[in-house]
Amino acid sequence: MEIKALDETVKGWLQISRKQILAAMQQPLTVATKSNRNDLVTNVDKANQAFLIQQIHAAFPEASIEGEEGQAAKADRLAGLVFFVDPIDGTMNFVKQQANFAVMIGVYQDGQPLYGAIMDVMRNEVISGGPDLSPNLNGEPLTPPLDRPFEASLVGISGPMAIKNRLHLGELGLASSGVRMSGSAGMEFKSIALGRLGGYVSWLQPWDVAAGLAIGQGFGLVVTRGDGQPLDLLEAGVVVAGMPQVHAAFIAGMNA
Ligand code: IPD
Ligand code: CA
Ligand code: CA
Ligand code: CA
Repeated sequence: MEIKALDETVKGWLQISRKQILAAMQQPLTVATKSNRNDLVTNVDKANQAFLIQQIHAAFPEASIEGEEGQAAKADRLAGLVFFVDPIDGTMNFVKQQANFAVMIGVYQDGQPLYGAIMDVMRNEVISGGPDLSPNLNGEPLTPPLDRPFEASLVGISGPMAIKNRLHLGELGLASSGVRMSGSAGMEFKSIALGRLGGYVSWLQPWDVAAGLAIGQGFGLVVTRGDGQPLDLLEAGVVVAGMPQVHAAFIAGMNA
């Protein structure tokens, strides 16, 4: 797989997605709840997933697709080429703020990260990268984030986990430079890539983490389960992503 060509192709799709999303935002949204009152899906999430699946099938007929909003043939194994698609990451922000949401695509080969892209729709900013593609913002190379001590780093923590002090995350947040909560995993990974956050902890689905993990391969980001073990990209669970010192401090504190 030629990564530069994949990058061009995916960025082309994301630009079309962006235009379609901005157009759809001019019309009333159809909002439905899924598992609970804060778990939303809109007509735009569904339409954008359908669009991206169509593009992936046409360009990579051999690929499996794992997308959030149904429709996709579930990848029940990680063999071969797998695309993880989150058509709108931060649907609550999309509905309530009309900002701070992302479109994310992560590409894996036999379970190994190849490539990730995160489109910040309202800022028209795409971060992409992977093990063989240096992280870039709209094609401009990014300076790798610094590996700072935990107490000198801002960190992202899922709101419910910090507020409920799950896994000591309330206390850990107090020991950092401060906690920031964006409501979008994609925005958190973007902030880490830009050096604005040292790390992020949340309970995530595979499509929430696939793009960020792949991009992070290009700048030394460490991404594991909450117990420090390798992630299983077919299961939801606690994810700890951080530059090495922040990641190590999270794992030590959460498992103390
Ligand atoms: C959600 C966001 C949120 C995270 C949730 C995710 P969605 O994604 O990334 O920040 O805390 O766990 O489900 O559902 O809006 O795509
Ligand atoms: Ca969702
Ligand atoms: Ca998501
Ligand atoms: Ca989503």
